[in-house]
Amino acid sequence: MTSVEHPGGFGSFDNVGTSGHSGNQEVGAAPTITVVDSYEAMSQRAADIVAETVSRHPTCAITVPTGSTPLGFFQELIRRIDAGTLDLSRTQIFCLDEYLGTSPEDVASLTGWLQREFLVPARIPEEHIHYVPATADDPDAAAARYEAEIRAAGGIELAVLGLGPNGHVAFNEPGSAPDSRTRVLDLTEESREQNAAYYENRAEIPTQAMTMGLGTILGARRLVLIVSGAAKAEIVRQALEGPMPLDVPGSWLRLAGERLEVVLDTEAASALSGR
Ligand code: PGA
Repeated sequence: MTSVEHPGGFGSFDNVGTSGHSGNQEVGAAPTITVVDSYEAMSQRAADIVAETVSRHPTCAITVPTGSTPLGFFQELIRRIDAGTLDLSRTQIFCLDEYLGTSPEDVASLTGWLQREFLVPARIPEEHIHYVPATADDPDAAAARYEAEIRAAGGIELAVLGLGPNGHVAFNEPGSAPDSRTRVLDLTEESREQNAAYYENRAEIPTQAMTMGLGTILGARRLVLIVSGAAKAEIVRQALEGPMPLDVPGSWLRLAGERLEVVLDTEAASALSGR
């Protein structure tokens, strides 16, 4: 494993994005960029960070992403749980996003997908899972309650995140503000296309989603962004090295400074300067 410090500092974007807990918002210190030689090593590094965090704070709140990127990470967590070397039975899991009006039984549901791929096989107790309230009658009020739920859990201790092909983080699409909170927003055509392709018969993807906000995510005490594959190399470069401000939601994660570790396989890192 090689670890490289990112050269950029973004001192003019301080005081962005927190409320309710004591995440260190000083920027300037660079995120850690960890480049590993395989998808498996990326998955293991993310699992190591979860294990380390949970061993110190067994009842803490963590987020886990959806998409194809985290599948190896989930498998590694489940393997450790089955082997008895990791215990997530007291950890609070906060979901990041869901299509508006979609419940876990719906074919395209991200929550249903997360249940099948991770929450059920990892035997996370139902009472410790916090679902994005995407079917609420009053989504705005429900989104505000979700924020309150996060605060009541002591804030997010660890946010494990993925990066969309257009730079989205959770479903914070381009145009999302770095201080945005949990809310409903319009999906880009690109994201709907991307996600429809996950399903054999191309599920119909709703036009709106509810997502945890960038500001909420930036309030986490530790953040891990996992990205794999050559197809993401250019968006990784933009997110980590593009000039700021930039309409790539992932670039706002740089505001987390040293609280952020970006774990890339060699291919995802291939467009970064010096590589
Ligand atoms: P992917 O999705 O892991 O399937 O590329 C990532 C995302 O959209 O956040």
